[in-house]
Formats: sequence, C-alpha cells, structure tokens
Amino acid sequence: MALPSINPTSTPAWKALQNHFNAIKEENIKDLFSKDKNRADNFKINWEDFYVDFSKNRITEETFKLLLELVDQVKLKEAIASYYTGDIINKTENRAVLHTALRGKESDTVFVDGKNVMPEIFAVKEKMEAFTNDIVKGNRKGYTNKRFTDVVNIGIGGSDLGPAMVVDSLQFYKNHLTTHFVSNIDGDHVNEVIKKLDPETTLFVIVSKTFTTQETLTNATTIREWFLKHAKQDDVAKHFVAVSTNIEKVKAFGIDENNIFPMWNWVGGRFSLWSAVGLTVSLAVGFDNFNKLLKGANAMDIHFKNEEFQNNIPVVLALISVWYNNFFGAESEAVIAYSQYLSQFATYLQQGIMESNGKSIDRNGDRVNYETGTLIWGEPGTNSQHAFFQLIHQGTKLIPADFIGFAESLHGNKDHQDKLISNYIAQTEALLNGKTKEEVLKELKDQDLSNQEIKELLPFKVFEGNKPTNSIFIKKLTPESLGKLIAMYEHKIFVQGIIWNIYSYDQFGVELGKQLASSILEDIKFNTLKHHDASTQNLLEFFKTFR
Ligand code: F6P
Repeated sequence: MALPSINPTSTPAWKALQNHFNAIKEENIKDLFSKDKNRADNFKINWEDFYVDFSKNRITEETFKLLLELVDQVKLKEAIASYYTGDIINKTENRAVLHTALRGKESDTVFVDGKNVMPEIFAVKEKMEAFTNDIVKGNRKGYTNKRFTDVVNIGIGGSDLGPAMVVDSLQFYKNHLTTHFVSNIDGDHVNEVIKKLDPETTLFVIVSKTFTTQETLTNATTIREWFLKHAKQDDVAKHFVAVSTNIEKVKAFGIDENNIFPMWNWVGGRFSLWSAVGLTVSLAVGFDNFNKLLKGANAMDIHFKNEEFQNNIPVVLALISVWYNNFFGAESEAVIAYSQYLSQFATYLQQGIMESNGKSIDRNGDRVNYETGTLIWGEPGTNSQHAFFQLIHQGTKLIPADFIGFAESLHGNKDHQDKLISNYIAQTEALLNGKTKEEVLKELKDQDLSNQEIKELLPFKVFEGNKPTNSIFIKKLTPESLGKLIAMYEHKIFVQGIIWNIYSYDQFGVELGKQLASSILEDIKFNTLKHHDASTQNLLEFFKTFR
C-alpha cells in the first residue's frame, strides 16, 4: 500500500492546533505545573528501562490531544503498517524500507517482491558471527600468520557514522581489537590512520552500499596501494573484506568473493548499521553484543508498532518536535547526552534526521507550504554547559532539547555519577524555571551591592525560563539500551516524515554537489577554468597556484 498523501495543514487538527497555539503561546510551563498537580505523571512514559518525561514542554492536555488527532488524520497507523510490511514506501527510489526487519526475529516473515527476506538476513548474520569469532579469537590470521590487532572501517555517511558512533558509545564493551574509521576524501585523514597501522596485523572493512562512492573507493585504493608495498597481491584476500549490495563492483575491486558481506537495497544507508554495515561494531564488541544492540532496537520496534500513540515514545517525541517546528517556528533542536560515551550521537543523528527530512517537495510532488526537517545539533553534557548553553538559556532563539541520561555509570564512580546526574537534572529545571527579577534582586542584595550596582546588573542576570526539554532517562548504557535509543530516533524521523507528507528515505539533495565535484575535478586536471561563474573561477585560480 502506498503511503497516504495528506497535506497536514489541510487537516482539522492542524487548524485547531493553529487556534490553540494562538491561545496558549504565552503560557509558562511553570504555571502549567502549578495549575495541574498531575502534570508530571500525565506527561511521562515509563517503558522497560526508559523513563521519558515530556512534562517540561509548552504543551497542555489540549495540545497533546490535538497533536494525537493530527497523527490520526494523517493516517499514521496505516503508514506504520506499510513501513513494517515491506511496502514500497521509498517511492522515489522504488524501494521498501526494512531496517526493522534486520533486527527482527528469525521466525518473523517479511516479504519483498513475494520473497521472505528473513532467511537471507539470518544467513548474513551467521556469516558475520563466524567471521567475528575467527578474527577475535585469532583463528583467522594475517599474511605473516600473526593475529589481527586493528580493524579499519573504510566508508562514509551511513557506512561510517553509524558504526563509528556505536563503536565509540560501546567502548566499555570492547575487546582487544583497535578500531579506526577512514571516511573523508581528505588524504590527510587516511594518512593519519595509516601512520598508526601495521599491515601484517590490520584488517580492512570496506563499507559501501553502492560501491561507487568517490571517498570510499579513493580511500580503499590508497590503503590497498599502501598494503601492497608490504604484502603481495594474494595477501589482499586475507586482509580486505567488503560490505555492499554491488557484488560485481566489489569483485572488480579485487575482493575475494568469500569476503563479501551482502546487504540489500531496502536498507537505507543511514539506517544500515543493523546490517553487515555493522561488521566493525561486531568485531569491536563481539557478535553477542552486536546482537544485543539489535535486540534492543527490536524491542523499540515492537513498542512503536503496538503501543497506543499517547504512550508511544517515538510518536510523542515526534509530535512535540512538530509542535515547536511548525507552530512556534523553532528552527533547531539540541540533543544533549549526559554521557561522554555518546559524544558522536548528535553527529550521527544529523545524517539520520537531516538527510531524511530535509525535503521541500511533498508526496504529491508539490512544494510544501510549511516547515519540514529541523536542524539538529548537540554535544555531551556537562561539556556543552560550558560551551553553548548560554545561548539556550539567555539567547533569543527557542531551542527545544532532548536531555539523555543514564542512571548508572559503567565504571561505578559514585561521586562523579552523582555530580553528572545533578547537572543533568539541574539544567532541565533551570531551563524550565529560569530566574525571576525578584530572585535576582534578592541574590544581589545578599551580595551587599549598592543600589546603583544592582540596578545596572539586574537585567543581565534574569533568566526567562520556559525553555522546553524532554528528559530521556535510561537505567544504564548497554548494547540493548543503545539499540533502543537509536531505533527511537529512527521512528521519530518516520513519524515526522509522515506528518510532513514527504519522502524520508531518498537523498537526492546530496547528488548535485557530487556531480559538480566530478566536473570541477576534470576542470582542475585539464585546466579548463573559464566556463564557471566569476567567484568559482577565482577560487580555482587560487588553488591552481598551489598545485
Ligand atoms: O551522502 C549520500 C549517501 O548516499 C548516504 O546516504 C550514504 O550513507 C553515503 O552516501 C554512502 O553511500 P555508500 O554506502 O553507497 O558508499
């Protein structure tokens, strides 16, 4: 079944939300708490090891009710059924979108073109497991018969960001293998990584869904050339493996057929870490932990598919985000994880969210007349408190933020953990309450300042508050809980794409730059600089003087 194609602004719920927004836009969350003693309990979801508190938002019961009507009116239920059953919901690329199947159970049945894809998924998982065990246990060795010590993931975009973020986030669970990631076409990136490697003990995992990506093929070629300065052609088979849908191209690159881990067109690059694209994750933390990551994601998939929308975490987070994006006119959202392990999480989400929902043409092929995808950014707390929190607290922009925290630390240092979590909670409270004129006045008076000094300083010390946050509080960072967290954001992306009536699973917006880069490369090589605009021509001339 095709996705419904409904302009959200034409729904009765949207119109009601517009009126409702005008009525409540000045409301203060603090007052909403005073008016409703049950607010904190009404606006929270307790699910497995997740506690999601969305009460610190500029919403009322009425807002929530209307937002829930909106998802009914854009037919979210039907869309979810299409998503999970392998319908061609990526219509512009004529593909199903089945990252959920990758973490499904072996007994599940999911059909693409009349064929159940679960056996293939599990065959590749078995191959990943056997390969991981062979490398980790040292049964499979390098060309001089030494055990592997290092793994290099060569890929970009979804073939890099997901595995890199997960490996970093799960470093507590890592084994002895040292992992490296090469992504950028910048030759200094690959050379900095090569500097640290011993060809005899390094395994290279080339990850490219299409196996046509300039960055990945250039980096893989450079690395292979370096490798062949030390080893022989026949040794390539021992050290290079690939993950791709494009088996012919992988073989043409010289990778042994046994060393190919297939993936499928129905896995989007930015949702592919659950497939063999996660091979580096499996190598780094062991297949069992990789499987636990998948299990966690599967639990979130089931929650998203079956839970009533008012208790459905991805749905609720998506609705709150739409509320700020489309009614308050907020342009960006911050994701602040109070865990250093999650330092790459916002970067990872940037591709997922912005490549998916950065669209301006709706599912009818028309230009949208409302805002779509949000800008997403963030850094871990507490570091970010000492960087950009000033702007969130006292700037002119409304920046709704997700605060992610883990109640238990992994190394068990209670003193640090108490301090970390007190910062986590204090920030959401400070953003909610702010600091009134009266409070500041009292504080300054207590400091024995003169009246004149107090008068001058007072306006700068006031915090308006009323800054919205979601608190996503999780028991502990484990492979399972990380899987749940990632899947939660994947489904939030899906819900928002449905509401905004856009196709979330293509990415034509990255093509133009790729095309132009190839033609400019030719111009640089053949010195044909004249046909560009004046600015581009000057830049090319400047570059020419240093080539
Ligand atoms: O940047 C565009 C993109 O197509 C991403 O969607 C994808 O994750 C990335 O390039 C890498 O593509 P591939 O895995 O085919 O090398």
